[in-house]
Formats: sequence, C-alpha cells, structure tokens
Amino acid sequence: SLGPVATLNLANADIAPDGVSRAASLINGVHPAPVIMVKKGDRLKLNVVNKLTDPLQLRGTSIHWHGILQRGNNFMDGVPGVTQCPIAPGDSFLYTMTADIEGTYWYHSHFGVQYCDGVRGALIVQDPKDPLKVFYDVDDESTIITLSDWYHELAPSITGISMQDTTLINGKGRFPGGPNADLSVVNVQPGKRYRLRLISISCDPNFTFSIDGHDLTVIETDSVATLPHTVNRLQILAGQRYSAVLHTNQRVDNYWIRALPNSGNRNISTTFANGVNSAILRYKGAPNREPKSNQQKNVNALSETDLHPLHNPFAPGRPTPNGADVTFNLTFSFDEPTFKFSINNESFTPPTVPVLLQILSGARNAHDLLPHGGVLTVERNKVVQINMPSGLIGGPHPFHLHGHTFSVVKSADAPFNFLNPIQRDVVNVGETEGDYVAIRFRTDNPGPWILHCHIDFHLDIGLAIVFAEAPEQTPSANKNTPDAWDQLCPAWDSLPIS
Ligand code: C2O
Repeated sequence: SLGPVATLNLANADIAPDGVSRAASLINGVHPAPVIMVKKGDRLKLNVVNKLTDPLQLRGTSIHWHGILQRGNNFMDGVPGVTQCPIAPGDSFLYTMTADIEGTYWYHSHFGVQYCDGVRGALIVQDPKDPLKVFYDVDDESTIITLSDWYHELAPSITGISMQDTTLINGKGRFPGGPNADLSVVNVQPGKRYRLRLISISCDPNFTFSIDGHDLTVIETDSVATLPHTVNRLQILAGQRYSAVLHTNQRVDNYWIRALPNSGNRNISTTFANGVNSAILRYKGAPNREPKSNQQKNVNALSETDLHPLHNPFAPGRPTPNGADVTFNLTFSFDEPTFKFSINNESFTPPTVPVLLQILSGARNAHDLLPHGGVLTVERNKVVQINMPSGLIGGPHPFHLHGHTFSVVKSADAPFNFLNPIQRDVVNVGETEGDYVAIRFRTDNPGPWILHCHIDFHLDIGLAIVFAEAPEQTPSANKNTPDAWDQLCPAWDSLPIS
C-alpha cells in the first residue's frame, strides 16, 4: 500500500483479472489501484503522473478523492470542467489535502468513463486512537474488500446499455463460461472479530453482498460511524462504502463471499455457479480448496432506514419537509433518441473552462456560469435540501455529492426522518415512480461541487449538476488568480476565454 506522500503513475498495460486479457489504464501497474493508507490528520501529497498513451483509451485524466470533504480546498477535488482542466498526457498534477475524518474512502479518475478501465482504488483514513472502538470491539481492521464490474471491451467503446462481463472482488473474478481463474481469498483466524471495509468501486451495477454462514454488523456508511446493526445481506451501490464487523464464529472451513450484480454477466447474474460473482473466506486450518457452503436461507437484508449515525444524528434545519432554508426540486429525464440524461432539462457536459475558474474570473450568478442551466448557486451557511425523484429509467441510481456528507432526511419508499437519519455521500434515489429522496446539508464549504449519478456511464451522458456554493468566497489554489489558472489549467491561454 501507499502512504500519504506518493507518486501515482498512470500508464496503459494488458491485464487478465478474470483470465481474459485486455488493455487497461492502471495506477502503478495494478487493478484495483494501490490502497492508500493514511492516518487521521495526515497531510496528503499525491503526485499524479499521466503516462497514458493508448489511442483507443482516454488519455487525459484527473483524480477525485471520493468522500474527502476538501474543506477550503475545493481546487483539489479533481473534477475536469468543474475544479480543473484534465491533466494532459505527459503532464502531472500534485494533489494536496488533509485527511481529517477517519473512515473508508476511495479514489478514481473523474475523466470520462476512465475509471471503468482500471483507474480506481481504496483510500483508508485510520484513527490510531479511535474513540469508537468501544462500540465495535474488533481484533483486526486490515481487511478491505473492493467490488467492481469488469468488461472485455474498453469503456469508451461501450455505447448504449453497458453489461459487465465479470464481477471482480479485490480485483479477481470468473467470467461465466470462461477460464477457471483464481478467486480472491480473505484469510481469517477462528474466533476473532474483523472489521471488513467494503467498497463499491463499480462503474455501473450494484452488488448484493453476503458471506455464507456469517452475519455482518454494519458500523460505518461512507465514512460516517453508525450504531451497530446486524444483517446478513446488504446492497451496495456504485461509490458507497460500508464497514461491517465479521465474527469468525463458525466451523473452521471455507465459505463463499458473494456479490450478486443487478445487471450484466450475460444474463446469468442470478447464479453463483463455479465461483462466478464470488470470493473465498478461508479460516486458518481449513483445506486449500473452494467452499461447499450455501447461502443463508433467512434473508436479513440491510435497509438504509435501519441505520443511524453514532454522533450528531440530527439533520440540519427545521424538522419539517419544508424546513430547509433553500429547497431544490430536481427533475430527471432520459431522452431516448439522443441517449442523454438530463437534470432540470440540461444534459451536463463539462465546460472547457472549469466552473471554478469562471468563478475566479468574476462570474457569480447561475446565469453567467457555464454550462447554462447546469450550475445552481447557493449562499453560504444555509441549510439546503435537495429533492430527487425516484423511478428514473436505468436505476437504481446512486447520487453522489462532492464536498459534503449529507443527511438522508427521506430515503426512497420511506417517510421523512429528521431525528436520526443516516449520513453519507452516495444515496440510492430509488425506483418507485412518484416517490422521491431528500438530502440536507449546510453550505459551509464554498466552491463548485458536482452532484451526479455514480453510474459512470450515466455521468458521461449528462446525469450531473453543479452547486456553486458561496461563489464570492470560493477559495483559490493561489490568492493570485493567474497562478491558480497556471496550476489548474496549464494550457489556459488556449482556452476559449482567458
Ligand atoms: Cu466518486 Cu464525482 O465521484
């Protein structure tokens, strides 16, 4: 794993995580990208070096540190067209930030659909003197489980509906009907409590995760500590994270770890035959072979409304559906002929001049900011509520807001809860037409922040909008605007406005 000061080299290479070789875009040669393991309070200095050359893949890049709030540090958020220009091939970009909150994060390219081709990995912020330990008493915190989709085609060449070929767990998986590739093995000792950090680094499908014969006690959602809640199955959408305590209290043996995708795998996604959609939990002392275990019959699935934050559970604002200072009712739509998604009738395309630089050049109001209709402005220190309709085609859609952890004051198919709603940074907006999801946060972090569907293929066809928070107080990389331009957009003098 990498520490807080590291170089991330992006380059092209062929890999065969499911036994089928294909070209990919990788960080330091591996998929998933190396785990970045830091301590709370660490100053991160991550130098991203773009050595991508494959003309069939995307060659610009930029890296987003998913879940890191970037307080006062908007210009390090890594979103092309919003906070910076893409990093050109041959260039590098030094990302600096502070890891101020313990939890489970990840990092990925935010350029086009590039992370689907391999630019994605785990980022863990540990707290050496974790005050929460009393609530979850674990013996080991080192287990990370990433879930991802995998395609035999390059992401930019996927047009229309994406259908993954293989589910990868910690970067390994079996293509249905393909070679008998190695599966990931999670090694454990009997009679211990393990904190599993479960991260969906998926581009599209969500996964229903379970481990045969074992319960999972959820203690974290998207870097927010929760009151412990025990289930035996949970659905995790693209971009979401959970920590769950696994008690190895079963017979010494091998057990299937299962991640069932909601789409893809050439229509046999409902099976676990021959280790498809699986990895192995292996107790110390168990034979070195594949499990014969069966999935638990009594389904005790996680419902988001059963989870409650451990600290500061109240949602901001007055505890009524109309009690926020500002409420945005977003509309979502899909246009079949153009194959584009829209929010408020605008299909988002990243502008050539990043929203941040438009603001630093003096643009203050939504009608001055590009893309027109794709940027909303809000004042500082307001409680904002965003209502998002359920039932959009192609769902369930996971919506991610940058720069904030929000309270989910209304989950899909559930009533309002202002007392102890779950806090997270990616929410499932639900599939029931006529319903909606509502989130709340306080505008305490000036700068332009994108809100988007974390199905990367949907972001790529416009399912995004930008909230420009307190434009007049936006921090810049450098108080001197021309220097900010040099850092964020080295070729700015060739941009349409300068
Ligand atoms: Cu994990 Cu805007 O993304």
